[in-house]
Amino acid sequence: MSIIHVEDLVKEFRRPRQYDGSFRTIRTLLTREYTVKRAVNGVSFDVQAGELVGYLGPNGAGKSTTIKMLTGILEPTAGTVTVAGITPWRERERNARNIGVVFGQRSQLWWDLPLRDSLWLIGKLYEMPRGLFETRLRQFTELLGLAPFMDTPVRQLSLGQRMRGDLAAAMLYAPKILYLDEPTVGLDVVAKEAVRTFVRELNRESGTTVILTTHDLDDVEQLCDRIVLIDQGAVMYDGGLDTLKSRYAPYRELVVHTNSQVSDVPGATVTRQEDGRVCMRFDPRLMTAADLIGSLLARHAISDLSITEPELESVIRNIYADRP
Ligand SMILES: Nc1ncnc2c1ncn2[C@@H]1O[C@H](COP(=O)(O)OP(=O)(O)O)[C@@H](O)[C@H]1O
Ligand SMILES: [Mg+2]
Repeated sequence: MSIIHVEDLVKEFRRPRQYDGSFRTIRTLLTREYTVKRAVNGVSFDVQAGELVGYLGPNGAGKSTTIKMLTGILEPTAGTVTVAGITPWRERERNARNIGVVFGQRSQLWWDLPLRDSLWLIGKLYEMPRGLFETRLRQFTELLGLAPFMDTPVRQLSLGQRMRGDLAAAMLYAPKILYLDEPTVGLDVVAKEAVRTFVRELNRESGTTVILTTHDLDDVEQLCDRIVLIDQGAVMYDGGLDTLKSRYAPYRELVVHTNSQVSDVPGATVTRQEDGRVCMRFDPRLMTAADLIGSLLARHAISDLSITEPELESVIRNIYADRP
């Protein structure tokens, strides 16, 4: 049985029409007309325990709204959400014990308290036995490098420090599921790496189920085996990262270093040629890299070459470019 089950999930936001100064809108205010925004439009997916799923899509696609329904913060307009056997918005407290949540844009910590006190309060709220609390606190302090800022009020922490504190707070009481909404947004390379290492470790060592939304596709490449891609509130792709690449970007790029003029290459398309480097694209299902390189070597003096897979970023750009 899946640990997370989402079926035909819909969320609409109703907002009174804004007053824009026209007569029409004054009437609108009196008659209370609404605009309806369908942020999530029939999403279905299942997550098995121990999976690490990337939930991706452009700005405004409905990612955060979905996460909020999974956490129980928002009640769906229609559809089903079951998380570890619980309907989150109906049993928010019971659900809260099973999940850890980190919103990159907003800290869950107490702004004026030192990190240490925030974590202690969370231990109390979740009624953690003292021994367990201390063991996990020690473990996370080490894993996330919290010691240098444990006694600093949260408001004074850098973004990277705060994010590490938030991760510790979210996982302290050992929930089975972790939701991460843009956890690496605005972080420097070192802090991003710390977040990724921590998430990977939790997933591998403790089997924590993770749903991650992010704009940083390096996060996805490094962490996720499976991705669910949404657009305008609906699922466009659900499957493995490799399958996504081979379906939407089956080509490879070959770069050769040569001084000779390379124009016509059977089985490949030259995309760029500059400073003794020639870039070409080929479809490995039609032409093997070995054959392509063989035919080039037979005709040109080549000093170096490399083959690259398409970047996830360009794959996803292609998918959205193709949409109706
Ligand atoms: N509380 C709200 N009231 C009205 N509209 C909202 C609210 N929250 C989100 N939306 C709208 O729903 C859509 C999806 O938002 P969101 O789930 O935050 O997208 P994402 O996280 O993928 O960027 C957007 O068009 C957004 O403006
Ligand atoms: Mg969002």
